Amino acid sequence: MTLPLIAGNWKMYMTINQAVELVLKLRDAIKGVSNVEVAIAPPFTALHHINYLLAETPIKLCGQDVFWEKSGAYTGEISPEMLKDVGCRYVIIGHSERRQHFNETDEIVNRKILSSLKEGLKPIFCVGESLEQREKGKTITIVKKQVEEGLRKISNGQMKDVTIAYEPVWAIGTGKTATSEQAEEIHNSIRELLYDMFNLEAVKETRIIYGGSVNPDNIDGIMAQPNIDGTLVGGASLKADSFSRIVKFKKTGERQ
Ligand code: 13P
Repeated sequence: MTLPLIAGNWKMYMTINQAVELVLKLRDAIKGVSNVEVAIAPPFTALHHINYLLAETPIKLCGQDVFWEKSGAYTGEISPEMLKDVGCRYVIIGHSERRQHFNETDEIVNRKILSSLKEGLKPIFCVGESLEQREKGKTITIVKKQVEEGLRKISNGQMKDVTIAYEPVWAIGTGKTATSEQAEEIHNSIRELLYDMFNLEAVKETRIIYGGSVNPDNIDGIMAQPNIDGTLVGGASLKADSFSRIVKFKKTGERQ
């Protein structure tokens, strides 16, 4: 099994100076950590500066979004090749904030995943239900559709480079975390679904990570679940002390 992935999504926060300051602290705070893969997704404007600061560290750089075309007259967009060029190894695709504010559909998400994989960028592919969908008992149906449509035409060989992030929309930035058991149930269902879609070897390599109000107090319980292979962290990734505590989660329960 691949290492757990702890990724920080900085969203639309941090000027270049603020970003540099945070990375310098973070580099020190997580020095020597080797049992976890760590990635950070700063805003596009800070990627270049941060790439230099990460040169001698195991921390990987991640884009927050990408366009599917290689190049062309697409004002305002960033291609997979450009993200690679600035040092990114990962890219977040299909975040609920993109789906909600920028009308990203499963088809768009699928195009972005396919073109990123072609360029050698590893997608962190986000799925998750809204509060209304959960209350109507539609969680599994919604997540299943997102996974099936988002991963259309992806081969077994490509699947090892895909990380799925289950982020229930009602738990993002709200302080309401899904309980570890609620998250585990959905992660388990996603894993089962992947077994229907891909071969055993591909699914074994695929990480399913959790996002939504992850913080230093709940990380150990979340990471104790057998089907949770890491976390995608928003607010708590903006401070070196909270993010480093999350990276250094304590192994308890079934993961021990
Ligand atoms: P919060 O950790 O702030 O809830 O954000 C989660 C998220 O959206 C990560 O992509």
